[in-house]
Amino acid sequence: MKFGYFDDANKEYVITTPKTPYPWINYLGTQGFFSLISNTAGGYSFYKDARLRRITRYRYNNVPIDMGGRYFYINDNGTIWNPGWSPVKTELDEYECRHGMGYTKITGKKNDLKVNVTFFVPQDYDGEVQQVVITNEGSAEKSFAFFSFAEWCLWDAQDDSNNFQRNFSTGRVEVDGSVIYHKTEYRDRRNHYAFYSVNDEIDGYDTDRDSFIGLYNGFNNPEAVLAGKATNSFADGWSPIASHYKKITLKPGETKTLVFILGYVEMPQAEKFEADGKTINKVKAKAMIEKYSTPEKFEEGMKELKTYWNKLLSILSVTTPDDKVDRMVNIWNQYQCMVTFNLSRSASYFESGIGRGMGFRDSNQDVLGFVHQIPDRAKERIIDIASTQFPDGGCYHQYQPLTKKGNADIGGDFSDDPLWLILSVSAYIKETGDWSILDEMVPYDNDMSVAQTMLDHLTVSFYHIVNNLGPHGLPLAMRADWNDCINLSCFSDTPGESFQTYTNPKFAAEGGYSKVAESVMVATLFTYSGPNYVEILKHLGKNEEAAKAQAEIDKMKKNIMESAWDGDWFLRAYDANGEKMGSKECEEGQIFIEPQGFAIMSDVGKEQGTDLKTLAAIDERLNTKYGLVLNNPAFTKYYIQYGEISTYPGGYKENAGIFTHNNAWIICAAAYAGQGDQAFKYYSEIAPAFTEETSDIHKTEPYVYGQMIGGKDAGSDIGQTGKNFGQGKNSWLTGTAAWNMVAISQYILGIQPDFDGLSINPSIPHEWDGFTAIRRYRGATYNITVKNPNHVCKGVASMEVNGQAVDGCIVPITDGQKEYNVVITMG
Ligand code: GLC
Ligand code: GLC
Repeated sequence: MKFGYFDDANKEYVITTPKTPYPWINYLGTQGFFSLISNTAGGYSFYKDARLRRITRYRYNNVPIDMGGRYFYINDNGTIWNPGWSPVKTELDEYECRHGMGYTKITGKKNDLKVNVTFFVPQDYDGEVQQVVITNEGSAEKSFAFFSFAEWCLWDAQDDSNNFQRNFSTGRVEVDGSVIYHKTEYRDRRNHYAFYSVNDEIDGYDTDRDSFIGLYNGFNNPEAVLAGKATNSFADGWSPIASHYKKITLKPGETKTLVFILGYVEMPQAEKFEADGKTINKVKAKAMIEKYSTPEKFEEGMKELKTYWNKLLSILSVTTPDDKVDRMVNIWNQYQCMVTFNLSRSASYFESGIGRGMGFRDSNQDVLGFVHQIPDRAKERIIDIASTQFPDGGCYHQYQPLTKKGNADIGGDFSDDPLWLILSVSAYIKETGDWSILDEMVPYDNDMSVAQTMLDHLTVSFYHIVNNLGPHGLPLAMRADWNDCINLSCFSDTPGESFQTYTNPKFAAEGGYSKVAESVMVATLFTYSGPNYVEILKHLGKNEEAAKAQAEIDKMKKNIMESAWDGDWFLRAYDANGEKMGSKECEEGQIFIEPQGFAIMSDVGKEQGTDLKTLAAIDERLNTKYGLVLNNPAFTKYYIQYGEISTYPGGYKENAGIFTHNNAWIICAAAYAGQGDQAFKYYSEIAPAFTEETSDIHKTEPYVYGQMIGGKDAGSDIGQTGKNFGQGKNSWLTGTAAWNMVAISQYILGIQPDFDGLSINPSIPHEWDGFTAIRRYRGATYNITVKNPNHVCKGVASMEVNGQAVDGCIVPITDGQKEYNVVITMG
């Protein structure tokens, strides 16, 4: 069942009912100011850091769900409603929500009154602009009361949700005409305030929550709205809010347009106040308000935003036989990649914004998805991440976006982290041809006095694996590898211990983790990413070092085949007791997804047919109609030697859930191995546009990936196997965005940036007659036509570039050439 439809021409998803199976959200903002907005206008705003600069309040895990947001209320002679339906939930005569690229438009109609609200954050602007267009579509004059509403957060979202003894007495506001200012703590230790304005005279306001809502009322029935009149309240402690009140009368056919601005301002210490030393200096706020003070200026801002996105999205666009593929590649997957660039894993409807900052592994992988769109910012990001590495190649697992410093609470020793840096730097060079990133001086642990070049960082990354091998010559698993929930050194039986960071006394003497437990996943990630490092060395003429590194890769491959090939697939790990994990010999968890794709893509044991055998096993054991489960069979008991993975009921998260991030690795691997049909089958099982028809089962947004989907074992714990099978969770902030962008564009469609130029080697469903693509790459435009007359899945029979036949599948770069017309004939 669907709850809306794609409007590809406008790059929008149009939601036609407010009662979606879960709040379906969008993100506004691309630089400093960000908002989350649901299809009923729930959500919140923050500046740069969702924890430390939270501007409006939001209560997670609320009852009912998604209560709290920027709300407009109408009291039309006793009929009280919101254009976005919630929170009053009066049945509307019409409702529509359009989530677009960086903006959301919500329209509601009730009793002849139509209200359309467009929300967006302009470029280079620290505020959310909301244009409200109210039209009387009836034949009689209408008079009604109109209210805005926003609830301020006292800046630090974590403190705001637990330090009530203080916070109930700190709230402060100022009201100046139609502008309500939030200035809690501004007098003392903060240099920032927020404001909520409207470009028209108002008939009243409220700034104190209890006066507006009433202590025993809810967002759904605020007393002031019920009364049809504001109380002109002043917050002094308790909970400051901002609500404008306006009496409006509209003749038949008449329209009233209002522009509201929710803004954030930082002031230099010396200029914080006016001469009286206590009234806030509003100069910057006034300039912000002026900037979008009219509908014309509003339109101008929207136009700029559209230009920005059209430009970003025009770097890659494709026309394939499947419009679902086109809308994923051309619009939504690229959009989601940019959101992961901006938000990492911090703030979504599943990430509270107060937990983690930026992840070393997460953000490096995200780079793979957005590097073609914003290479300069990708470079800056890569340098920030690498700056939190240690001199031995280990890494802080996370860092804070505001300080860019490694997070000591989490620490390091995640075995996979260093390898992702090799992949992100390589992806940057392959995209841009800018080798100078390797010469950048990059600190260790943010200490510039021990800085080395980025190339040195790659070297220590590579050798961090080589220097930390276990008994089978495979990389030590440490606290966790990519799978946060396989914690082979934890052995925790005490509630509340963090599986990832708890050091079992058992391993204290060994430095905090087992010197026996090994990760086959990291071994294969090493053989997959390592060759990039070798290529880079060769390019720099460092042939001896390249040969040395290659020898390590070859040795690792040998070790994998000797100790980690289980006959039909690759093992997952050796645990701290030296026992196999992810083997036929195991009682549960016999096969895991993570090592398989990287093994196939680095040709481990290919001469013995490991690739096709593994793909067959995956298809048989892991595949379902909703995607590939992470492991099989699911764990039904707690395995203390494995850690968090066996704490989830079967079918969820890392315990046999469909963890879409690693599905992408199999899609890539199947495509790499020439199995275009299989690759596309797995792609279409999880790509959001393909889940649209089953939105009632999938529940989360049909336009973006979520981290996981309930697997075939979901419900098995309660004897109802299949109960939540196919149900999505944790949408938006996931490495799936980047990896599935890579899977579809670089592996299936086969348009893959390489060190020497653009490689085109598709691996598509055999039914496809071909496809076309436009790719802007290193300053030139590539017009690509792929023909598939013999209906093969893979194979480039011939390539023509600007009419000339060319060998191989890399388009040779000709200096100064701006346009390449490339025709590929498969066969
Ligand atoms: C989450 C984390 C990611 C991790 C994955 C598997 O998505 O963000 O870092 O690799 O879970 O545990
Ligand atoms: C939990 C989650 C995992 C996430 C991790 C982050 O283990 O299950 O997905 O990556 O927390 O610390």
